[in-house]
Amino acid sequence: MSKEIGFGIIGCGTISNWHAGAISEIQGARLVGATDVSKDSREAFAEKWKVKAYESLDELLKDKEIEVVCICTPSGLHAPIAIQAANAGKHVITEKPMAINLKEADEMIATCEKNNVKMAVISQLRFTDAVIKLRDAVKKGMLGKLVSGDIYMKFYRSQEYYDKGGWRGTWKMDGGGALMNQGIHGIDLLQYVMGDVKSVFGHAKTLARDIEVEDTASAVLEFENGALGVIQGTTSIYPGTPRRLEINGDKGTIALEEDSIIVWDILGQEKDPDIVLERTKSGTASNPTAFGIEGHIKQIGDMVEAIKHNKKPLVDQYEGRKPVQIITAIYESSRTGKIVYLK
Ligand SMILES: NC(=O)c1ccc[n+]([C@@H]2O[C@H](COP(=O)([O-])OP(=O)(O)OC[C@H]3O[C@@H](n4cnc5c(N)ncnc54)[C@H](O)[C@@H]3O)[C@@H](O)[C@H]2O)c1
Repeated sequence: MSKEIGFGIIGCGTISNWHAGAISEIQGARLVGATDVSKDSREAFAEKWKVKAYESLDELLKDKEIEVVCICTPSGLHAPIAIQAANAGKHVITEKPMAINLKEADEMIATCEKNNVKMAVISQLRFTDAVIKLRDAVKKGMLGKLVSGDIYMKFYRSQEYYDKGGWRGTWKMDGGGALMNQGIHGIDLLQYVMGDVKSVFGHAKTLARDIEVEDTASAVLEFENGALGVIQGTTSIYPGTPRRLEINGDKGTIALEEDSIIVWDILGQEKDPDIVLERTKSGTASNPTAFGIEGHIKQIGDMVEAIKHNKKPLVDQYEGRKPVQIITAIYESSRTGKIVYLK
């Protein structure tokens, strides 16, 4: 009889409900309890999901029923909490970004290695059918020589969105803005499909919101394979447009809008009947919570399989580090006015 893997959630705000909902859908996974610095939040969450409320992180980490923690706190706390959890022998699932700088990401990596625990970093869009098909086509060389890979993330977040969270829009707790918070999803997809980034040159500015971090950024990339690319991210344009990822090679183009394939055009090939072109129905361009739990179900399910069979999760700590490296390099480029090489 296989035993269930016990989960504990740290931080009972918005995204914790995606984790709790996903865990409840995964065979072999069980949510044991949760903690939050806010008594009201942890008690309301425990009541909603019928689980234990722990008064502190220490208390949660002492519970032997919990094998995996999901870190759903403000981003600036991911690293210290992950390090404490890994030192307590727990496997870690952390929300994106893995950490807000590379020093902290590297400390997390070293701590997981030292304690022989696994880490998964949430990047739920990697698990969508459209992304899987796109990456598979690129890996098979169907687009020929890769020429360009671009991601456009022109979103709308109101001033109230930033003011309400308290931590959002701050360097200390958000670690950045349009790129580190919202844009990281698309930046991770871009590098996942195109391969490692060699260098970046970027501008990051605060144009329309009263926040410390950037609400708008543009960057030009060179990939290790020689292709070029563009990252465009903002949270301050009205009304917000769907996320668009476009990959071009000398033999074809595939473009995604949100989670839908909108272009699949390959030289000399009939349209594959498995590829359905459709416009996107919804998305997070103007509403940060307008997305389902399917991605979290797949990614937390992938971690459960990784633990059961002692494999690597798809987005482990080394993968989770990559978009943080690209984003912090764009910030450095914007500060210095220079091209930044990633290695
Ligand atoms: N994967 C996604 O699509 C997605 C979507 C939204 C948010 N996120 C990420 O999830 C994280 C949380 O975002 P959110 O929107 O849920 O924020 P939120 O403000 O709604 O919730 C954060 C919660 O953490 C609690 N908290 C703060 N400090 C804590 C501590 N030391 N210990 C325990 N709890 C603490 C707060 O009281 C709050 O309840 C962020 O890192 C964000 O980037 C990811």
